[in-house]
Parts: sequence; structure tokens; C-alpha cells
Amino acid sequence: MLIKKPTEIASSEITDKRMYFNRRQFIESALGVASAAAVLPGLLLPGAAQAGTRLAGVRPGSTKAPFGTDEERTTYEDVTRYNNFYEFGVEKEDPALMSKNFRTKPWTVTVEGEVNKPAVYQLEDFIKPHTLEERIYRLRCVEAWSMVIPWVGIPLADIVKRFEPTSKAKYVEFTTLHDPAQMPGQRRAVLKWPYVEGLRIDEAMHPLAMLAVGLYGETLPNQNGAPLRLVVPWKYGFKNIKSIVKIRFLEKQPTTAWMAAGPSEYGFYANVNPEVNHPRWSQARERRIGEFLKRKTLMFNGYANQVGHMYAAMDLNKYF
Ligand code: MTE
Repeated sequence: MLIKKPTEIASSEITDKRMYFNRRQFIESALGVASAAAVLPGLLLPGAAQAGTRLAGVRPGSTKAPFGTDEERTTYEDVTRYNNFYEFGVEKEDPALMSKNFRTKPWTVTVEGEVNKPAVYQLEDFIKPHTLEERIYRLRCVEAWSMVIPWVGIPLADIVKRFEPTSKAKYVEFTTLHDPAQMPGQRRAVLKWPYVEGLRIDEAMHPLAMLAVGLYGETLPNQNGAPLRLVVPWKYGFKNIKSIVKIRFLEKQPTTAWMAAGPSEYGFYANVNPEVNHPRWSQARERRIGEFLKRKTLMFNGYANQVGHMYAAMDLNKYF
């Protein structure tokens, strides 16, 4: 994110992508598969066949806001080939290319700090297939592009409650795996590794926040943060930490990877806010990946009715 400003994204990149999708849509409609893929959430898409495993028992999400949207979903190709995952390189196409052999099984998550039930959990211990649901959320990146993604996961609040936070737990900190042997991006000091993110406890308990294990009805591709990542749709994309190995409950606000990298540019809250610009660029508009014209960015990424009350008493210029 420090590397490429949105103004530096070549328009040729966007044009090429559009041509690519037009060609794909043409082929799909010739085969008669595009419309089926569009209406059936979780249908095994032709391009996705090898990438993820179909998740059994996923309850399709409500199509009603805020857990769903009528907006067109970003194609599987864009969701899985245009990524930010610096552990696998800083270019958008790097994560898909460099994470192919990343091992996500077995996977443990260490829960520690201000909780009654600290433990090292196997992923399967707290993510049961029958509890999974689909939610279609907008993701707005701080770089001023956005996507609409059908995630599969569980409400973060359900998990948090299970660990029984103590009354001292005011914040939740999440940490990504640190393994430079597997994550070549970690051999360079682009960020202070491991990647760390955090939420205030009321944010973590908000019904919109989720832990995702899949997208488009299948397990997460490695480049999207397999096997477990955070999705907080009213915040900038960088809050959505990938490949989580640790969840720590704290009394004090943690310092996140991006706060450490650029405190004047990346705050702890990182709520999507068209009125507070990034010091180097405007946040008023965004380009939806796959579209040509920019659209207006909505307060709290369009989830203001649900989350606005949590920040009502705060100066959002100061707590950005
Ligand atoms: N998590 C880790 N561990 N490392 C990262 O570099 N990038 C963040 C976030 N989570 C990142 C991360 C940013 S900037 C964005 S926009 C989203 O992941 C992108 O998620 P996606 O690639 O699944 O769309």
C-alpha cells in the first residue's frame, strides 16, 4: 500500500482487465454457464475447480442488507488474482503466484490474554461446517478500489464469546503466521513482521464482523488468507488480516502493522470515511474492480446505519 498510489495504477491495467472479462463473459454465455453462476451462490465455478474445496453445508446468506447486497459481485478471477498479501509480494498478482505451496493444514490458532479459556485450538475445533454462512460484503481498500465478495464464515462474536473474555478485555489483537521460509515477502522488511491487526472489543462483537474460511462457496484460496481471515466490512481492507494464527485479548490498544509502518497515514480505527482523506490521496471516490468509472465512497462503506453509533462521540479526523 505504501508502494503504489491509486493514481499510479495504469489505465491500461483496467482496460486490459475489462477486455479479459468481456471475453470470458462471451465464452461463458456461449457455454450457457454465466447466468447460472450469477444466480446460485456457491456454485462451483469452472475457473475455481482446482483452487478451493467446495464447503459442505454452507447456508446461503440473506440477500438482504446488511449481510447481502444486490450489487454485482466481483468476479472470482479478480477476487483471487488482484490481492494484497505482502507476505507473498507487494504486487497485486504476486500473492496468487507465490502462495501456491503455502501449507494451511494442520492449522492452529493460539488464544491468549484476557480470557477465561486460553488455549491452542485446532482450526476444526472452532469452525464447524454446519455453522458456516455466506455473506456478501463490499470490501473497500485504502488504495481507493473496491470489490463485492461472497464470503463464507462465522460471526466473529460467536467465537469471541466462546473464549470468555474477562472484564479487562478492551481490545482484540490478531496476528498472521510468521514463516519466512514459506512466505518469501517476510524476508524483506516491507512491514514489521508478523502482520498484526486489532479491533476494539465492541467492534469485534458487532454482528457484521466475521471470520472467513471461504469465498464463492469454497475454501479460501491461499492468496485470500487461507485458512482463516478477518472480514470487517465497514473498515478499510487492510484491517482484514489474513492467515491468522493468534488472537490475543488486551486491556490496551495494540499497535498494528500499518500503524507501525506509517502512523500519520494508517490509524487504528481505519473506518471507511470519504470525508477524511489519506494524507497522500482522496478517499472520496473509489474504483469498483471490473468497472471503469469511479463511484462515490459511502460513509463506513455503506454500513453507517449499523455501525455509526460506535463512533458517535469520536472525532473521526483524529481517530482515523
Ligand atoms: N493480511 C496480511 N497478513 N497481509 C497483508 O498484506 N493486506 C490487507 C488485508 N489483509 C494484508 C492482509 C489489505 S491491504 C487488503 S486490501 C486485504 O487484505 C485484501 O484482501 P483480498 O486480497 O482477499 O482482497
